[in-house]
Amino acid sequence: MDKEAGKRLAAEEAANHIERDMTLGLGTGSTAAYFVDIVGKLVSEGWDLRGVPTSEATREHAERVGVEIIEPDEATVIDLAVDGADEADPSLNLIKGGGAALLREKIIAYAAKKFIVIADKSKRVAALGAFPLPVEISPYSWALTVAALRRTLADNGFAEANLELRARDGEAVKTDGGNLIIDCRLGRIENPAALEKALAAIPGVLESGLFCGMTRMAIFGGEDGITINGA
Ligand code: 5RP
Repeated sequence: MDKEAGKRLAAEEAANHIERDMTLGLGTGSTAAYFVDIVGKLVSEGWDLRGVPTSEATREHAERVGVEIIEPDEATVIDLAVDGADEADPSLNLIKGGGAALLREKIIAYAAKKFIVIADKSKRVAALGAFPLPVEISPYSWALTVAALRRTLADNGFAEANLELRARDGEAVKTDGGNLIIDCRLGRIENPAALEKALAAIPGVLESGLFCGMTRMAIFGGEDGITINGA
């Protein structure tokens, strides 16, 4: 089974948690896109579903498949949020942000009554950190923020961290909110919750891609079907 089939299986399983009348947090990325397709199909069958998108790409996709959009500024309740991940550990801590949507994704995941992660099985890891940790920072005085980030990482045991401004075609990548992404190659992260807290304390850091203690359920799709962690 290829990765795409695993992603689709995970999205289909997550869809079993949708009820007929719900406001859904819609994640970003190729796995979350399978879920958006399913939500569109349910809407076409008469289900009363609305979506709060975590990125402009997801907004366009959701609109295209007929899902009513609730503007993030107007959303007061999110019944269920479903999103992908770049890595997930056995305690359901995550690294996210490969698609540069991590700030919005975290706001929605945190607000949701229930947050489900969907992924192909290659995203399951014993410990987070092989995937470079994305950190979203304000463009204002960004070099000072990167210096503070380096200091905090060193204080937390990552003196050898390699930090890189995310760029494409020679241009800094801007998030949908106009922010920058610093990808931090750290290696194994022994205490992701402590690191998440330390990074959040840096002025100029808007969020890190560490999502600790937020995931209620993780659904992984692969060769041997579905594996579900959490409830
Ligand atoms: C975007 C994300 C994505 O959920 C993450 O990168 C996984 O993407 P994909 O499902 O395409 O592998 O965090 O910011």
